[in-house]
Amino acid sequence: MKSGRLLEDIKTKNDIVDFISSYVQLKKSGQNWKGNCPFHSEKTPSFMVSPSKQIFHCFGCGAGGDIITFVMKHENISFQEAITLLAKRAGVPLPSEGTDKRASQKYEKLRDVLSEAGRYYVTKLKDSARAAAYLRDRGIDAGSIDTFGIGFAPAGWDNLLRHLRGKGCSDALIKEAGLAVQGNKGFYDMFRHRIIFPITGMSGGIIAFGGRALDGSAPKYINSPETTVFKKSDSLFGLSAAKDEIRKQGRVIIAEGYMDVIICHQYGFKQVVAPLGTALTPGHIQKLRALSSKAVLVFDGDAAGRSAARRALALMCHNNYMAKVLLLPDGEDPDSYLRKYGAESFDNQLRYAKSVVDFLFSVPAGDNIEIVREALTLISGVKDLLFAGEMLRELAERAGISESTIREEFKRVKGLNVTAVPGPRRAFSCEKKSEEHLLLSALISFPEKSDYILSRLDMDDIEDKVIASLLRKIATLGEMWGATQILDIADDEERKMVTRYSLEPGLDPEQIDKSIEGCFRRIEQRKLSERLRLAQTSGDAVLANSLLLEKRSLEERGL
Ligand code: GTP
Ligand code: MN
Repeated sequence: MKSGRLLEDIKTKNDIVDFISSYVQLKKSGQNWKGNCPFHSEKTPSFMVSPSKQIFHCFGCGAGGDIITFVMKHENISFQEAITLLAKRAGVPLPSEGTDKRASQKYEKLRDVLSEAGRYYVTKLKDSARAAAYLRDRGIDAGSIDTFGIGFAPAGWDNLLRHLRGKGCSDALIKEAGLAVQGNKGFYDMFRHRIIFPITGMSGGIIAFGGRALDGSAPKYINSPETTVFKKSDSLFGLSAAKDEIRKQGRVIIAEGYMDVIICHQYGFKQVVAPLGTALTPGHIQKLRALSSKAVLVFDGDAAGRSAARRALALMCHNNYMAKVLLLPDGEDPDSYLRKYGAESFDNQLRYAKSVVDFLFSVPAGDNIEIVREALTLISGVKDLLFAGEMLRELAERAGISESTIREEFKRVKGLNVTAVPGPRRAFSCEKKSEEHLLLSALISFPEKSDYILSRLDMDDIEDKVIASLLRKIATLGEMWGATQILDIADDEERKMVTRYSLEPGLDPEQIDKSIEGCFRRIEQRKLSERLRLAQTSGDAVLANSLLLEKRSLEERGL
């Protein structure tokens, strides 16, 4: 069990809005921040984060809690691991205890070996005139070398291995980190005589490496194998360096290669990332979705580039990502284009990136009708109906076919009616709340009323088990309490209720006393009615009569 002091410390030093916004695109909404819930799929944001209360709640799926809950749910890790992660992030020292931390220790160890390897490669780059000359020839400046932590793996079979062994790493661990390969004669270095590009996670820690040959030797690039900390299909090169700019612009530029990312950043396009030599996957989009909902895909203008663009666009559309395509001329990639024509020219190219419909018409793979069919198939994958509608309008105009015909055909392709509005809206705000819900809500929103509410409330009157147990817990907290303190002792169900009432707008401060009194009165009335019913059915006329009088007087006072 962690001391409350430590939890307090960890929570005050990790701001929840700051933390969550590195995963979820948040927009200011009144005093709170709002975004699409990372725990369920939604198009209308119902995920709220409160800076003042340091909690989150999703009014769509009910998930809620503090920063610790968020980390546990989001990273799918234990309470202990979440604490460790947040303490590290905030520089809060943890009392060391060796309990149940094997998984996170393994993770830590891999990360440590990888960052040690990263440091090693960086020092080796400084020793190699040849590697430095290569980077210079390719136009990579010192700032980029520093930003991306570019390094060099010298020629030889076991340079890194020997270095890491010297630091006390076991061969097994080095192999598990993807840094060594086991051959007939033992282990040898994965990366030899290559320029090294560290691949980092969202927060900047090294999770793998990419290595480029200095000469024409094949393969041109190699990447680390997949490991516990590295999945190729959801890793994007440059993401940690680009994330702030992507969030700021609400738009990401997706290029194809390492060099493109580095040179783009160097020329001031800091919202550029690239997959690691693979096609775009849903995993990549998942990562990006937290930062933006628009993308420009930059591809080579050749046939391979065009067909890659087609596939990527279909995927982006399907995932409600508004994507445009830029096909660069004459087999240029962003790297070569920027160095040849400069930033301004590239910026102009980006400005004229083509929409999906435009793209299909500009690189035709058939006659007008065939293009329309391809477009319709693509648009039918778009789940967001407003977005789809927009595209249909554009398609009709571009193809010179009436919009109604396009829509008819679209219905056929999709098998459903595009003009239908998206599902019924959540009816939460007009849900009729019982007195006990109202009282809990009042108590959470107006802590200064809690003494009064708790002293007047008869716990036995509370029917909802979650509310009853929550109120009992709150009663044990004494005077100094707030949402944060309740969350520390709440269980899952209770926590959801606390965050929901903490963030739900509704109770009017002007009316709060009246509302509270109204609740108590209705509870009294309900109890009286029940007793009256019992008295009447048991034939106790005297009692029934006095209860009836009491009930009337209560009703009169209520008027
Ligand atoms: P440069 O030739 O250095 O400019 O690289 P590039 O990024 O322009 O390379 P290219 O367009 O040929 O490839 C794009 C991306 O595909 C690279 O950045 C790599 O991630 C990946 N890639 C290219 N060649 C290979 C290869 O031989 N093996 C692997 N695993 N990936 C490759
Ligand atoms: Mn290139």
